[in-house]
Amino acid sequence: MKEQILLIKENAIKEANGVSSIKELEDVRIKYLGKKGELTSVLRGMGGLSPEERPIIGELVNQVRDEIEGLIQKQEKEFKIEELNKKLVTENIDVTMPSKKTPLGSLHPITQVINDVEEVFLGMGFKIEDGPEVEKTYYVFEKLNMPESHPARDTQDTFYINDSVVLRTQTSSVQIRVMEENRPPIKIICPGKVYRSDAVDPTHSPVFHQVEGLVVDKNIRMSDLKGTLELFAKKCLGEKTKIRFRPHNFPYTEPSAEADVSCFVCGGKGCRVCKYEGWIELLGCGMVHPKVLENCNIDPKIYSGFAFGFGLERIAMAKFGIEDMRLLYENDVRFLRQF
Ligand code: DAH
Repeated sequence: MKEQILLIKENAIKEANGVSSIKELEDVRIKYLGKKGELTSVLRGMGGLSPEERPIIGELVNQVRDEIEGLIQKQEKEFKIEELNKKLVTENIDVTMPSKKTPLGSLHPITQVINDVEEVFLGMGFKIEDGPEVEKTYYVFEKLNMPESHPARDTQDTFYINDSVVLRTQTSSVQIRVMEENRPPIKIICPGKVYRSDAVDPTHSPVFHQVEGLVVDKNIRMSDLKGTLELFAKKCLGEKTKIRFRPHNFPYTEPSAEADVSCFVCGGKGCRVCKYEGWIELLGCGMVHPKVLENCNIDPKIYSGFAFGFGLERIAMAKFGIEDMRLLYENDVRFLRQF
């Protein structure tokens, strides 16, 4: 039996030394040391040995097993090191190789103007609100003092989903939503898309953007409105910008006004952008009509407020010297790349 064990050892060592992969090494392990391996079957046959021989043979088997196991482990380690070295050579990274570049886009001019406007108003303590574009006429017209037969609705024809739901024509609808949900002091702006059934031309689009502003508190006066808008004009359009107010009429403000700013391209001298008038019409505004406050359960004897609304396209066009509004929506990268 001793000879048999030594022969197994010799064969196992020869084979283990001759393998060329971890897989083959594993086969050797199974062949000699596995559950049905050669050395294991010798152990099983030990029952037929005399009591004196048993411990001697047992010890020998253990020794041989340790030796074979040790050799296999040593070989395995070497294979692993070799493999790693191969990987290090073949898989090295050339950090000087030019990378695949994903070209970075830029913000759309309208988005840039929205960001600018938001920043100015956030700096003055306004909160930014949002409201639905598909809106009840209740919010777009009725609660803003424009009942069904009101002529002011004519100038804001829009897409009707049904008799009482429309694509909103003005962000003023958000005023009502905010006043219904909140108690004064209220100080918000709301930028967003609005819709009107206007034919497309260089200065009209059926979809465009507005920013609405609303302030309601005790003792809010026309002078607060003027001061706020003057500061906004200077911060957003340049420190030299002047602002002027002309009387106007909106059903939801009393008194109402329109405001123009001195042309921020020519400074008021007259140029193509301001159509040689020196002024650019900017926005509608006024003191919130007492009835509108009442509609939202705010007592007009205690509170007063001002509101304003302006189109963003006009600012973007003047700011970037864009002469045709349609360019803003066509999303031609040759155009957009310029901003
Ligand atoms: N909603 C008006 C428009 O679409 C703009 C406007 C005017 C908003 C006066 C206001 C305001 O809040 O007080 O032309």
